[in-house]
Amino acid sequence: MQAPQMMRQIIDEEVTWDKTQTIVSKTDLYGTILYANNIFTQVCEYSAIELIGEPHNIIRHPDMPKIAFKVLWDALKKGENFHAIVKNLTRTGRYYWVITDFTIDKNEKGEPCSYTARRKAVPDGVVKKIEPIYKTLLDIEKLKGEKASELYFDAYLKEEIGKTYNEFVVDLFEEENKKEQYQKDKTKSTIKKGLNWFFFGD
Ligand SMILES: Cc1cc2nc3c(=O)[nH]c(=O)nc-3n(C[C@H](O)[C@H](O)[C@H](O)COP(=O)(O)O)c2cc1C
Repeated sequence: MQAPQMMRQIIDEEVTWDKTQTIVSKTDLYGTILYANNIFTQVCEYSAIELIGEPHNIIRHPDMPKIAFKVLWDALKKGENFHAIVKNLTRTGRYYWVITDFTIDKNEKGEPCSYTARRKAVPDGVVKKIEPIYKTLLDIEKLKGEKASELYFDAYLKEEIGKTYNEFVVDLFEEENKKEQYQKDKTKSTIKKGLNWFFFGD
């Protein structure tokens, strides 16, 4: 089987998937995959057998800056549920963007025992806004190192966004989702108007 993060040819093409579905995976406390639902295996193009026991970075896309995962792990270790917008890599080198809701599962003693990630597709508007930020973070990481990228991200969130990464992601998703819904409703009412004209005249 293909080793995690083995050189895969990157193809600048989005994988086609049913965007009404929720992609679910569960890991142990170190990010080793324990469970993957059917839609996850379809989208990432690995079977469940191939995924189980592998580190989650098996689907890490090289366009993702390291700092995005550092903030994720810092939050989980602090016991905080978290949201992230992630570009993932499929087996054939294609990509898909998702918003991920991370939750911490607890055992009967109330101690963290695993993590569950539930992912939904994101509107294009979200990708348009987050992609250039990740690109800047990645460029800084490559040229000036991880620490510089982290410091820039901290300052950017404080100075330009005024929110934590988690708040930024949730608000951005909600905003763009509303816009998308509004556009859909507008199209529907135009169609209704068109049909009214057809049946009843204007
Ligand atoms: C529950 C859970 C789900 C994760 N899902 C993803 C994912 O979909 N894509 C991804 O690149 N990393 C995901 N990660 C983070 C990876 O464990 C890893 O930190 C990341 O891919 C960066 O890889 P690296 O640490 O080797 O640089 C997830 C982690 C957890 C705990």
